[in-house]
Amino acid sequence: MFKFALLLAALVSAPASADTDALYQEHCAECHGADRLGAMGPALLPENLGRLRAAKAEAIIRDGEVASQMEGFGDKLTGEEIKDLVDYVFTPTDEVPVWDEANINASHITAVDPATLGDKPIFDADPLNLFVVVESGDHHVTILDGDRFEPLTRFQSRFALHGGAKFSPDGRFTYLASRDGWVTKYDLYTLQIVAETRAAINTRNIAVSSDGKYVLAGNTLPHNLVVLDAGDLSLIKILPVTSASGESSRVSAVYNAPPRHSFVAALKDFKEVWELPYGDGADLTPRRLQVDTVLDDFMFDQSYEVIIGAARDLEKGQIIDLDTGKKRAEMNWPGCRIWAQGSHGN
Ligand code: HEC
Repeated sequence: MFKFALLLAALVSAPASADTDALYQEHCAECHGADRLGAMGPALLPENLGRLRAAKAEAIIRDGEVASQMEGFGDKLTGEEIKDLVDYVFTPTDEVPVWDEANINASHITAVDPATLGDKPIFDADPLNLFVVVESGDHHVTILDGDRFEPLTRFQSRFALHGGAKFSPDGRFTYLASRDGWVTKYDLYTLQIVAETRAAINTRNIAVSSDGKYVLAGNTLPHNLVVLDAGDLSLIKILPVTSASGESSRVSAVYNAPPRHSFVAALKDFKEVWELPYGDGADLTPRRLQVDTVLDDFMFDQSYEVIIGAARDLEKGQIIDLDTGKKRAEMNWPGCRIWAQGSHGN
């Protein structure tokens, strides 16, 4: 009897079958990509679905999402088939999906030639006092006049923007990153998208260098950092995130450190923090700091000499010296969570 129960459990939780793959290819691939990396619709991989619950995914597939092209399949698929599709999208693909130089270059869209952009705002408001409001629910961005609190424009964004809007040093351009790795450059003077590139399959966040030259995307899939030209978002280089012993890691967060002329990246899967210098002809070659815990996120102190990091267990904050990598202090704050995003201009 016991054996039988085990066998049954194994049957019930069997990974998505060839039938489910066929269902996916027939009904879903057109919008979500045959490889599930996303197309017109978002990527459907466990890494990307992240916080989406299985029950919510089931409801979306059955009933659709309001005001989107995701229609409900409740009348075409049985409840069982929908459940199988939920399992399917939460199961990693057989092979680790690839997103390399060729994919990044092929994704690159130049919407307007940056050289043709006028040099004056096309609206009557202070261009340095605008708010970029990300409406994550329905994937739109509103540009708000910060004096009058009136919208200047509203446009559809990539699916699930996150990590906060970043700005060029002169404040004219804003850079947005989406869950699925799309980086968008938007001109706040002429109110239009300038360029877009899909830097990765899944991106944690982006940072913009103080010299206005680079956009750095910190990614969780693939495990790398991607450097884009801040002008037209073309690819400059890919930095795989690997340790001396050959392990690879997701990136937890990247931020710009203006006085250091560098980016700093925290890693999620091995105990290093990377500093990538770009000033004085430096070429973003990582300087690796050995730290004693992996960090989920961090912020800088005012001097940019230390970072204040949040460890995975969320109970401990760490103060780490950015020159030596040594821990200067540890804070035991039960439930401590550090929200660093967007709090440093870049
Ligand atoms: C006509 C295009 C289209 C088809 C066909 C389609 N989808 Fe979607 N799907 C979308 C779009 C667009 C979204 C994003 C909706 C939104 O804006 O919230 C989406 C969202 C989803 C989400 C939620 C993702 C998230 O991260 O919140 C799931 C799950 C999903 N689709 C599964 C499926 C499955 C399974 C099928 C096949 C049975 C399917 N979709 C067919 C376009 C499509």
